[in-house]
Order: sequence, then C-alpha cells, then structure tokens
Amino acid sequence: MGIEETATQVILTHPENSSSSVSILKYGATIFSWKSNGEEQLWLSTAAKLDGSKPVRGGIPLVFPVFGKNEDDELLKQLPQHGLARNSTWEFLGQVKSNPPTVQFGLSEEIANPELTKLWPKSFSLILTVELGKDHLFTDIEIKNPSQTESFKFNWLFHTYLRVEDIEDTFVSNLAGMTTYDQLLADSYVDKHPVVTFHEEVDKIYKNVDADRIIQVVNRGVPIHSVKRTNLPDAVVWNPWTKKSGGMADFEPKNGYLNMVCVEPGHVHDFVTLAPGETWKASQKLYNGELKYQAI
Ligand code: BG6
Repeated sequence: MGIEETATQVILTHPENSSSSVSILKYGATIFSWKSNGEEQLWLSTAAKLDGSKPVRGGIPLVFPVFGKNEDDELLKQLPQHGLARNSTWEFLGQVKSNPPTVQFGLSEEIANPELTKLWPKSFSLILTVELGKDHLFTDIEIKNPSQTESFKFNWLFHTYLRVEDIEDTFVSNLAGMTTYDQLLADSYVDKHPVVTFHEEVDKIYKNVDADRIIQVVNRGVPIHSVKRTNLPDAVVWNPWTKKSGGMADFEPKNGYLNMVCVEPGHVHDFVTLAPGETWKASQKLYNGELKYQAI
C-alpha cells in the first residue's frame, strides 16, 4: 500500500482504494500503467522495453525539449525524435503527499543521458509531479532554466496512450472548429468534422485549443477518458493504424492499434522560450467525466 520503490520503478496505490494504482518507470519517468478501480486506462505494447534500452511504447512518455524530429534549429535538430527526456533515467525525488499519493521525479543536464545532453548542451531542471487520485491521474511538469546567462527554447508534450476497446467504435470530441496540422498531408486546415473518427492512420496536431475544452474519448456514446489541459495549448491525436504499427518492432500485438489512441496535450506548435532563471509549468489531468459536447 502507499508508495513502493524498486531499483527501476515507483508504484503508488491509493490508500482508500487498493484497486487504483499507478506504475512509473524511472527511465523516462514514464507512467506505464494506471489502473482506476481495477481497470487499466493506458495502452502499453506487449513488446515495450521497460529495461531502459529504448523509450517505452505506451503509457505516458514525456517529450522534451523537441516534439518530432526538428530540421531547423542548429542544436535541437541534433536530438532524436521527441528529444531526451524519454530516453534518460530520472531521479526519484520522493513523496510529497500521502493522500492522494503524490510523488516527484527530477531531471537535469547533470543526470540526463550524456549522449544526448552532449548534443543539446543546455542547463535545465525538470520536476514531474504525479498524483494518483481516487478517480484521476494528474501529471504536472515544472521546467526551470537555472542558467544565469543563457535562455533556451523547448517543446513539451505528454505522449499519452489511452486504452480503448475498439478504435473503430471510438471518437475523440471537442476539437471541432480547431486548426489542425495534418502531419500525413503536411497541411493545415480548420477541422470541421464534429468529432475525430478512426478508419486509417491519423496524425494531427490541433493548435491553440481553448484551455476550457475537455478532450473526450467516447466509445459507443459512452465517455471513457476525459483530458484536461493546463497551459498546454496543443493536442496531438495519433493512431498508427496497420502499416505504421506494422513497421514498429516494439508495437505488439500487431492489431494493438485497435485498442489505443494517443491524445497528447502539449506545447508543440510553437516553442516556449525560457530566459535565465525563469520557470514554466503545465499539467494534464486524466479522468472519466460525463459526456460534454462543447459548442464551438
Ligand atoms: C506522435 C507523432 O506524437 O508520436 C507521430 O505525432 C509519431 O508522428 C508518434 O509517429 C510516435 O513516435 P515514436 O518516436 O514514439 O515512434
């Protein structure tokens, strides 16, 4: 019960409901399981590597300081896709609250993967807070620039893989009317579809989504996931479908794309610039709220 730490993981169990728990790998500070009332809420590939040999395929990988593969910035373009946070072992900073159980993890250039900090030689300090509510999972990120002289720019994203029963029965709501950049078409347009549905690969960045829009994942009319964002204006919606998942060695089972959708709150369309000494904060809350269709 409570908080259990092993050499590689931290597991929180809710003190008032032992069937609610969250498991966090120190590698990437990646949440790889969240059970709410006994039911797994996140998708995790059965071939996901949990040994630190590569980023975890599933759960909630953390994307910093660059989303995707940068081609323009002299330093950021040296980094692999999605940056260095998901490929670094974070420090477990300990418990900050026992109820709801809340823990923190830290990452700085001193402990991050040296192969990667060599490519992006900046001073940074990240603190991830994970709170396991009775019916929610809250993740908060604080990014500080400890340098006295140099600023840096970054993207942040919670790459959340949500579990669904059948993607073809599922839609994602409350993004209608938003401008989206379709990564497959390499084009931006206003998405007029009332909901996002899935019958092929989807890879879209919704930009500047109003903060009060709760993105919902709905299965056969029943809301199964609600995503609340704070200070994260963008939302990526991704499902790799057959071909893309077929090409990923760590994506198993091969029809696993039927049971997942990524709804990824982030700040990815534009970079955040942090001046020396400045701090930036953002968070994601996952829960199962009532169906709420928000007018445009
Ligand atoms: C999504 C991107 O966020 O992550 C996709 O929009 C990408 O383009 C996907 O394919 C998975 O990325 P990776 O690096 O974990 O295979």
